[in-house]
Amino acid sequence: MEDRLIITSNPNKSVSESDRSALVIWGKSPLNGHVTISGAKNSALVVMTGALLCSEDCRIRNVPSLVDVKRMCQIISALGVKVEQNGDVVDMNAQEIGTSQAPYDIVSQLRASFFLIGPILARLGEARVPMPGGCAIGARPIELHVMGLQKMGADVQLAHGMVHARVKGSNRRLQGARIYFDYPSVGATETLMMAATLAEGETILENAAQEPEVIDLANFCIAMGAKITGAGTNTITISGVPSLHRVDYSIIPDRIEAGSFLVAGAITHSEISLSPIVPDHLTAVLAKLREVGTQTIWEAPDTLRIIPANTIKPTDIETLPYPGFPTDMQAQFMALLSLSEGNSVITETVFENRLRHVAELQRMGANIRVKGNNAIVTGVPFLTGAKVLATDLRASAALVIAGLAAEGKTIIQGLHHLDRGYEKLEPKLQKLGARIQRVQNEAEAEALNLTV
Ligand code: EPU
Repeated sequence: MEDRLIITSNPNKSVSESDRSALVIWGKSPLNGHVTISGAKNSALVVMTGALLCSEDCRIRNVPSLVDVKRMCQIISALGVKVEQNGDVVDMNAQEIGTSQAPYDIVSQLRASFFLIGPILARLGEARVPMPGGCAIGARPIELHVMGLQKMGADVQLAHGMVHARVKGSNRRLQGARIYFDYPSVGATETLMMAATLAEGETILENAAQEPEVIDLANFCIAMGAKITGAGTNTITISGVPSLHRVDYSIIPDRIEAGSFLVAGAITHSEISLSPIVPDHLTAVLAKLREVGTQTIWEAPDTLRIIPANTIKPTDIETLPYPGFPTDMQAQFMALLSLSEGNSVITETVFENRLRHVAELQRMGANIRVKGNNAIVTGVPFLTGAKVLATDLRASAALVIAGLAAEGKTIIQGLHHLDRGYEKLEPKLQKLGARIQRVQNEAEAEALNLTV
């Protein structure tokens, strides 16, 4: 019962606590053993918004215990919807949605909560959701979401920091439409797929995102009675239905958490195994691991063992929409390639400002030059522990990975980013043999000695 969360507490408390706290890592410990991968953050968050489409009980399993999930629970609760988190199970009942307006203060801290606009609009015919601000990794505009909702018959006004969408017409039901995305945005595909499940008629999403999290959301909606085909391809067809029914659904494993542990194994030259993993979700990451010389073998259909090499070969990486190399793994691979024997070019094409970890890796001795959206990484023989600041979620993971391989002590601050997206990271790494510990503040971090 320890993890039971009745949704009344303030999630900001844990944020300010993790703001002050620090992770101390003493590098160069070989890792060994098995790690269990949690449910996918980006699936769980959007599936929780999808549960608002249904006026009956929804049970969502394998939900990771993360600050972002707590925030989403808070937002859903503020809409007047019943939500309870019990361990890795979230129960929701959106029979009543008390208000069409999402709360400003929490929504502005959680990009994924903008995706609420689709389900609220589909259920109530009206939605008011704060505009998500720019964030550390880029401006993150919403024009593709807005364009799609307009095509489906909504009147959308942007004013005073709010997006106000209203369905025109007397029955307040969105209309099916043919929607082409200039770019295969994950969030816009998810928003419009959810909106279309309860619309009148057929919606076709063209140049849609193909990410596994989009497929997971589609499968969740299908399990509630939605009529969706083509999720996982670039054309998704949704035939609207009048209502959806109760569901008990389990979230897919987190491919980015799995990828992060694989890189941790590769950089420390350690043999570790991971499960559960869906093999297809990691195609690009495993291809790049092979290029740097790290082999992987499937011990079971969902269990992967990493067979590391003694040296790390350089390789070039360009981030792309799925099935291309994921932007959410770019920072972790940069840490790995900073110890390679040669030059690598990493090109970030998905977000315009996702190279801020370069400066922190440089503090640890990495040789990286940035030119536009390219990072030119010249491998060095070793990294040295340093005091570094996590600049976003995946940058935090990269610094942990670099710290595991570095000589001496690394102190990582800015843990509120890490806590948004990695469940029980320290216990999982400690179980593998890493010398890693969270402390309350910088002074404790300075004093801590993990060599004994
Ligand atoms: N974009 C637009 N206009 C739009 C929507 C997106 O220009 O209307 C741009 C964005 O600014 C960005 C690019 O398109 O440059 C990709 O954005 P996308 O909409 O695909 O991403 P997202 O839905 O905002 C999700 C994940 C991200 C992940 C990306 C790409 C969630 C909650 N977030 O974001 O996850 O990086 O897809 O795969 O699902 C993370 O977990 O660390 C993370 C950032």
